[in-house]
Amino acid sequence: MSLTGAEPPTRGQPLKKLLKPLKRAAAVMAVASIAFSLQPTAASADVAPQRDIGPTVVGGTPASQGEFPFMVRLSMGCGGALYEQDVVLTAAHCVDGSGPDTSITVTGGVVDLSDPAAIKVKSKEVLQAPGYNGYGKDWALIKLAEPIDQPTLKIAESAELNSGDFIVAGWGADREGGSQQQRLLKATVPFVDDATCSAAYGGDLIDAEEICAGYLDTGGIDACQGDSGGPMFRKDEAGEYVEVGIVSWGEGCARAGKPGVYTEVSTFAADIKAGAAQLG
Ligand code: ARG
Repeated sequence: MSLTGAEPPTRGQPLKKLLKPLKRAAAVMAVASIAFSLQPTAASADVAPQRDIGPTVVGGTPASQGEFPFMVRLSMGCGGALYEQDVVLTAAHCVDGSGPDTSITVTGGVVDLSDPAAIKVKSKEVLQAPGYNGYGKDWALIKLAEPIDQPTLKIAESAELNSGDFIVAGWGADREGGSQQQRLLKATVPFVDDATCSAAYGGDLIDAEEICAGYLDTGGIDACQGDSGGPMFRKDEAGEYVEVGIVSWGEGCARAGKPGVYTEVSTFAADIKAGAAQLG
């Protein structure tokens, strides 16, 4: 969760080039230096002991225990949300492909990853969005070996909630180029319409598959590296949280004029539902 926008907006490599899927090893080395990263942070980022995140952090706040009980941290350095108690919804770029996979550790039930009460379970199978090639379709499901006994997060099934203010949460970097966080951070980001967002990225937005949010004029609050796969959500009419976006990419973090780009969950709701049903 990036809470400041301190870095100068140095222009990275061309978006098209950087969005191509990278090999995991290359990605781990490249992630720190590229502005347009779609890749998760280094594998060691599961729990990186940090100093406390004090109230001095600008623009965001620590989540309280139990506030977002559906939030999970993935061992490759991504976020996710419990779609079912044994199925995590995350980003396609956080996983290696589809099939049996016992390599991912999923941590849930805590805001502090070092909390002894943390629930840790292994993955069993991964479903990466069919047709994912590094552009759009940035969603994936992870079937867990055992359920995590926590409330799940509904997904948006229509575009109805694709506006207003959203909450985004994660254990990712607290500033562009910053380190992963031990404690879950949250921030509120306003919707940015497709035309504005697409213009901000030279037309590189896939309108139907991506939804943007951020403070266009000022920057300062955003998701960042390591938040990928985590949910962006808001309340519905019934006052229940609904996932409308999945942290996907952006140019740097929290830069003015460069909104965060999220997978548009409502577009893929039927596919996600079918995918979850199909997982062993
Ligand atoms: N791709 C990044 C990750 O793997 C997420 C980047 C989100 N960036 C942003 N400015 N919202 O964690």
